[in-house]
Amino acid sequence: MKKYKLYVTMGAGFESVVAKELQALGYETQTENGRVFFEGDMTDIVRTNLWLRTADRVKILLQEFTATTFESLFDQVFAYDWAQLIPVDGRFPVKGRSVKSKLHSEPDIQSITKKAVVNKLTQQYRRRGFLPESGSLYQLDVHIVKDQVRISLDTTADSLFKRGYRVEHGGAPLKENFAASLLKLTPYDGTHPLIDPMTGSGTFAIEAAMIAKNIAPGSMRKFAFEDFDWFDKNELTKQKEEAKALVNDSKPIIVASDIDQSILDIARVNAHNAGVLQNIEFKQVAVKDFKTDLENGIIIVNPPYGKRMKDQESARKLYGEMGDVFRPLKSFSKYYLTSDLEFENFYHERATKKRKLYNGSIRTDFYQYWANKR
Ligand SMILES: C[S@@+](CC[C@H](N)C(=O)[O-])C[C@H]1O[C@@H](n2cnc3c(N)ncnc32)[C@H](O)[C@@H]1O
Repeated sequence: MKKYKLYVTMGAGFESVVAKELQALGYETQTENGRVFFEGDMTDIVRTNLWLRTADRVKILLQEFTATTFESLFDQVFAYDWAQLIPVDGRFPVKGRSVKSKLHSEPDIQSITKKAVVNKLTQQYRRRGFLPESGSLYQLDVHIVKDQVRISLDTTADSLFKRGYRVEHGGAPLKENFAASLLKLTPYDGTHPLIDPMTGSGTFAIEAAMIAKNIAPGSMRKFAFEDFDWFDKNELTKQKEEAKALVNDSKPIIVASDIDQSILDIARVNAHNAGVLQNIEFKQVAVKDFKTDLENGIIIVNPPYGKRMKDQESARKLYGEMGDVFRPLKSFSKYYLTSDLEFENFYHERATKKRKLYNGSIRTDFYQYWANKR
């Protein structure tokens, strides 16, 4: 089977988390900023799309070359055998990005690349300048960093954070792959209790249950590669069947609470859609009244953080309540994600470790308080 140079994209700061996931799937990896490279064939494209919890997209690296002029960009793109990748009716939008390079106008980079592919395909298909672009999507990326050009094909379509279990509700839920990445920064493996006392739409709880049950995160969604006409249609069906057989019947202990009953109702629907409703205990309770008899577990929270002064005041009052309630739970390791740099002062305890992270464009810290003994 044909081998490809593949890479995975992810949120800033999560390269090592994604690399570890790929290594656990059996791949040798090479990491650079925002990308982890590996090699594989069609079956690996399916496997990584289906199983990666922390990544954004899986892409095929088609071409790598140096270009400092548009002529050179055009000629080198034109040289590729595009007809073996894109059928006569394929749609192939081009997305361009340029960083610290002589060719810096992204619209021009896009249109020159597009033109080179169009010219080559019209020649290869003898179409006299017309391609209908009415068929399946082949999203191409041209990315130039310090004059090094990389052309790639996206195999994923919607980012992998879109698992397919979430109902839209207009709140600000964590992205599923971001929540999974944060869980991967904790020792969580499904064998210890996990508590999210401000669960919102349930993202941490659902992702944790899927990790504990070994449910493939991509088993509920579609991927771009399904529509590629050179792709073996049976491979995904086969791997989804295999994934189903790999779901275990463990009974993880996961408690998800929130003050707001209406958001808990949404969390329940999400958990049901993800197939883990039975694995999560949902309850409506305010943090200040939270009690548990559980021990030796993980508490993970994405508390509200206020942008406006009034919101910030109430958020900080809440951090104080969190400190009062969770600090005494010494056998638990605790993980708090917030953009409030003063969090520790209001929680009244210094974190064991802090990790700077970006939640989209919001700079946040992941405050970690490790248990005395596990
Ligand atoms: C930033 S959201 C959590 C979003 C969640 N991680 C998700 O992915 O949907 C914060 C949550 O804290 C809840 N909350 C606010 N004050 C609370 C309190 N005093 N006790 C418990 N939950 C509270 C809100 O109802 C909201 O759902």
